[in-house]
Amino acid sequence: MSRGFFVTLEGPEGAGKTTQLARLEARLRAAGRAVTVTREPGGTPLGTRVREVVLDPAVDIEPLGEFLLYSASRAQLVREVLRPALERSETVLCDRYADSSLAYQGAGRGLRLPLLRQITDEVTGGLSPDLTVLLDLDPALGLERAARRGQPDRLERADLDFHRRVRQGFLDLARAEPQRFLVLDATRSADDLEAEIWAAVSGKLAGGSSPAAP
Ligand SMILES: Nc1ncnc2c1ncn2[C@@H]1O[C@H](COP(=O)(O)OP(=O)(O)OP(=O)(O)O)[C@@H](O)[C@H]1O
Ligand SMILES: [Mg+2]
Repeated sequence: MSRGFFVTLEGPEGAGKTTQLARLEARLRAAGRAVTVTREPGGTPLGTRVREVVLDPAVDIEPLGEFLLYSASRAQLVREVLRPALERSETVLCDRYADSSLAYQGAGRGLRLPLLRQITDEVTGGLSPDLTVLLDLDPALGLERAARRGQPDRLERADLDFHRRVRQGFLDLARAEPQRFLVLDATRSADDLEAEIWAAVSGKLAGGSSPAAP
């Protein structure tokens, strides 16, 4: 195999992305796979600085600037982490990626999607996930889950209508690319979700086509 396998986890605040990412990583390692795990924004020294800024409730950021900050982090991550790991034929797991920008800054903040897509294509060099797991849930429930973790970050403080648009944005992206997305009801138990994600990932890694359709 000349190229690894690229999986992203997406979804609203508190959907369980980080929880499922850790479980998937453990399953892959147990199966003997080389795995690189990273996240957006973050994953590089630049990305970590960007993360501090974009999540800081004390910093006001207008929408296009917000998108460009995420894009700066993404550009660095693609070149420093994602592409090298994929070239080593590793399985790469990323906690949020370009779909989050389309959902949050596009559907959520109302920036024009064609512009965001054009910049994103440039930033990623066209690197698109082989599989995107969308953990979907009512944002009110997700924010409640996230709130149990502590003080809300800048995005978690945005109003519920914003988070509803984000959720719908993710669902629209999934509908447009059904072969890439696995959409799961994030109110199911973490164990159930883990099993279903593993079935999809292990099936694809084994060379199977898409996960079993109902
Ligand atoms: N399937 C589940 N059912 C109930 N609670 C869950 C489930 N999965 C995760 N949780 C809990 O919900 C909270 C948020 O989970 P997690 O941090 O994995 O979400 P996230 O999508 O990464 O959130 P964020 O967008 O804030 O990074 C945690 O307290 C976690 O234990
Ligand atoms: Mg998380």
